Amino acid sequence: MTPTPPTDATADDRDSETTADTDDHLIPRLGLPRRDFIKAGAAVGAMGTLAGCTGLLDNNGDGVASASDVDASVPPGELDEYYAFLSGGHSGDVRVYGVPSMRQIMRIPVFNYESARGYGHDDETREMLESAGDYTWGDAHHPRVSQTDNDYDGRWVFINDKANGRMARINLKYFETDAIVDIPNTQGVHGACARLPDTDLIFGVGEYRVPIPNDGRNLDDPDAYESVLTAIEPESMNVVWQVRVDGNLDNGDGGKNGRWFFATDYNSDGAVTESEMARPDTDYLKAFDTIAIEEAVENGEYEEINGVPVVDGTTESPLNQGDRPLVHYVDVPKSPHGVSVTPDGTYAIVSGKLDPTCTVVEIDRFDEVDDPNDVIVGQPLVGGGPLHTAYDGRGHAYTTLFVDSQVVKWDIEAAVDAERRSEDPIIEKIDVHYNPGHLIAAESYTADPQGDWLISLNKLSKDRFLPVGPVHPENDQLIYIGDDDAGMQLVKDTPAYPEPHDASMVHRSKIDPEPVYDPEDLETEYVDVDDTEVIREDGRVHIKMTSQRNEFGFHDVTVQEGDEVTITTTNIETTSDLLHSLAIPQYDINVKLAPQETREVTFTADKPGVYWMYCAYFCSALHLEMRSRLLVEPEE
Ligand code: CUA
Repeated sequence: MTPTPPTDATADDRDSETTADTDDHLIPRLGLPRRDFIKAGAAVGAMGTLAGCTGLLDNNGDGVASASDVDASVPPGELDEYYAFLSGGHSGDVRVYGVPSMRQIMRIPVFNYESARGYGHDDETREMLESAGDYTWGDAHHPRVSQTDNDYDGRWVFINDKANGRMARINLKYFETDAIVDIPNTQGVHGACARLPDTDLIFGVGEYRVPIPNDGRNLDDPDAYESVLTAIEPESMNVVWQVRVDGNLDNGDGGKNGRWFFATDYNSDGAVTESEMARPDTDYLKAFDTIAIEEAVENGEYEEINGVPVVDGTTESPLNQGDRPLVHYVDVPKSPHGVSVTPDGTYAIVSGKLDPTCTVVEIDRFDEVDDPNDVIVGQPLVGGGPLHTAYDGRGHAYTTLFVDSQVVKWDIEAAVDAERRSEDPIIEKIDVHYNPGHLIAAESYTADPQGDWLISLNKLSKDRFLPVGPVHPENDQLIYIGDDDAGMQLVKDTPAYPEPHDASMVHRSKIDPEPVYDPEDLETEYVDVDDTEVIREDGRVHIKMTSQRNEFGFHDVTVQEGDEVTITTTNIETTSDLLHSLAIPQYDINVKLAPQETREVTFTADKPGVYWMYCAYFCSALHLEMRSRLLVEPEE
């Protein structure tokens, strides 16, 4: 079998004579994580042979089954291997893709109001949004999936709002946002990550330095501006402590052993203009000893600001002078961007952004060295504009090169052995289109990455899609990384609405969403057929009704102008995928009702007239007939 270099990829570094292992690209059809597949032993060879004989692997039609025939197609009716959760950036949502098809399966509104899912339209979700700052949008960047024992547990996705300093939680039982916390003492939470192995804390990484509290004091005194790392307890979503630091904070990642958290900064001088921010030759990687920080909080060594214990982690802090500093400040080349911990927890790798290197930090050395800079054990020269690094679990790192529009694959241990600023650890580079920001490999944030698929989240798409005016989509490119001999292979372009920043990719076996609601999980009481009623009391009207094919519990309801009206509706269907909604024209309401879901909406009936409440989900042949009259009688 002779692999043909794929036409889309940079083939320079590829040995076209290498015999490729053709087994890996079968995996998407088998519904097994790659590791499990390999563990299946003899079955691998048998399937490979069988598939080769039937021509299943010959996807490019050249009559040869080879590694260049990477099959990223998922035929109609078949399911994907992975869930990918992509942030929606300033659209404020999270998108769910199937990988490798790159089909967008769902959008989950988080910081944005969204009518198809009724998000922000019913009382519960509207109150959640209003109590978390009452903003109509957010800038969702880093979706991180909860883990137990350093592996995805399918419970939650956490995501930050960079714009307004919030953190949200998505419940993967129902793929819906169930909590948002407005974080005090910070503006612009950028990185969002967990303390691992068990996601017992969520970290919000404060990007913008502001006066604390930001109430008008020290307006133009940048020396008094500060940023904080925030720790949030995931079950309650309560902010439990914060740490003040010098400079700002950018991206972050948790160590694997429950102690360390790492964050980069790009403004260690505390400047307030772009030219000043990029002036110093070095900035910091900050290593937070979260156990030492928790001990400081327990010992009362904090200042309470806006109800939160804030610990002093600045370089001059007395808490940072002893044997066990709270925050270690490591000098790295200026304006670093991403930091990510290797799957085995050995290294934190910092991507240089303005410097063409990555910096490899050996985590255990923090306890051994006197000079924190001695934790640096490698610094490969990777290329122009390194931003983020992902892993395949086979000892390789994949780093996006924003300036060079490439993804570079390099060997982590080779980078530790090599001279600093050497290109020797580089294995290959592949062109992407164009200017990649984040990238994500399957389960890269766990201790056991799957090592088959990688998505490069490219900020610019330019000429890759039909022109649609001055606003272009982004381009999320799927790359196969499962064959080290054949090299990285670009297999798919996927346009993305502005603008994904980061993603997490989880094997489908680790997520188990419910097809219908369990009424016990909802705050609002279920309305069954016998519970249908209208309660009137002092200008308040409470309508409790069912919805089912093809009618609501009442065919008409009369209220008085000025009444405060609450409608509680249950979709009493038990059949999956049979949704209704309660849409009320001119009252700006559309409440989604999935099977067994109960939602409540409250509004003031301030417009007299006839309003056809209708179902906006196409639910049956009589869907159009599913409507009832809301009669608002004018005031005398
Ligand atoms: Cu119910 Cu359409």
